[in-house]
Amino acid sequence: MEKEKKVVTLAYGCQMSERDAETLKQITRQEGYTSSDDLASADLVIINTCCVRESAENKILGKIGELKRLKEKNPNLKIAISGCMVQQPGALEKLQKRAPHIDIWTGTHNLHEFSALLHKAEQGEKAAEVWKEPQKTLESTPLAEKGKLQANVNIMYGCNNFCSYCIVPHVRGRERSRKPEEIIQEIKDLVASGCREVTLLGQNVNSYGKEFSPQYDFADLLRDVDQIPGLLRVRFITSHPKDLSDKLISVVASGEKLCEHFHLPIQSGSNFILERMNRKYTREYYLSRISKIRELLPQASLTTDIIVGFPGESETDFEQTLEIMNLIQYSHAFTFMYSKRSGTLAADMEDQISLDIKKRRLQRLMSVQNAQSLEWRQRMLGKTYEILVEGPSKTNLERFTGRTRGNELVVFKGNADIIGSLVNIQITEAATWTLVGEIVNPEM
Ligand code: 5AD
Ligand code: SF4
Repeated sequence: MEKEKKVVTLAYGCQMSERDAETLKQITRQEGYTSSDDLASADLVIINTCCVRESAENKILGKIGELKRLKEKNPNLKIAISGCMVQQPGALEKLQKRAPHIDIWTGTHNLHEFSALLHKAEQGEKAAEVWKEPQKTLESTPLAEKGKLQANVNIMYGCNNFCSYCIVPHVRGRERSRKPEEIIQEIKDLVASGCREVTLLGQNVNSYGKEFSPQYDFADLLRDVDQIPGLLRVRFITSHPKDLSDKLISVVASGEKLCEHFHLPIQSGSNFILERMNRKYTREYYLSRISKIRELLPQASLTTDIIVGFPGESETDFEQTLEIMNLIQYSHAFTFMYSKRSGTLAADMEDQISLDIKKRRLQRLMSVQNAQSLEWRQRMLGKTYEILVEGPSKTNLERFTGRTRGNELVVFKGNADIIGSLVNIQITEAATWTLVGEIVNPEM
């Protein structure tokens, strides 16, 4: 009997990168590989990469270096590097020179032809292919992995926004939306395989369907997905504030399964910096969107992304970011130091900020956010929330974890029978990142 072939798939970066890694994993399964976490016994290792910040790239380059030693011990090991980092213009040649031990290179646009590249590598050849443009008909194949409680479903690809700091439009191409029928069918199939929660993915889900005629937008899609029987929850990321319509907020408010959580990256609280970032909204406009959400959905959770140290950011600009955070009160914020990405407009801007200042600002920002996250959770004490039970806690096997509709993590005592169902939990303890609670009504 032939030896079982094992693949380890690692994904760096955002949910789209995780979803792409899943596509690759599914393709290798069709090629006879079994998924594993053990690098030492792997026959194939795939790293799906991220290039949104230099820190991500450095981490990945470190991992690629580590794999060289693994390959020295196991010369039959094949290594594939895929995704955003490889897709950057001119990156492939540089990476190939730096890491000649890699067998397969592929960009974001041609993941779907991974089998062909793998066959070549299995024959002992080097395989490298990066398409300049995406081919729409190939995307989303294979579909999301079946049989899991939660699934990420692509609804669109690419981004048209060209925020001046961001490499994403350069490596993911222009916006293109999947047909609603395809998305709905994929979700129905996932539900039939046991899925209870889907997250609809796109760089800017609010501009979903802009190219459709007759008109059909993201709010329409959410309304239709909300009707799918057997599904318990629907989430979506990421929303661009400039495109967040009143219609969308009211559809979320009236939906049954549509979770009251908006991830709405603000990036900065200064109009001067927002303009330089090419975000196409002002702080006043952003605040008006928040007011609308709070008006229709007072209980909604808000999360955000913030960049500190963007070129030209003065102490006053930074203070304006802290001030707007205090006004809004996010449940959580992802905070980043600006990272220069070659090929983006901001990389060539004058007044780049020193690493020292960036670090200091990030520390201040994080301590403000941590205090707010804690206060947010403390306000939840004593109240009861609907939780989707996900499974045993990774750190305490006697406890279970799940999330509120607002995406806050909750730990509680439970049993394996309730995994995948909704329970009511009263919050008894609150910390910055987690909540502890007790089941109120296990039958719900
Ligand atoms: N430097 C720092 N942060 C960045 N992001 C995107 N590009 C950069 C960059 N060059 C952040 C933004 C975005 C999140 C996914 O990553 O905040 O919303
Ligand atoms: Fe990058 Fe801006 Fe597009 Fe988001 S909206 S992916 S930050 S360019």
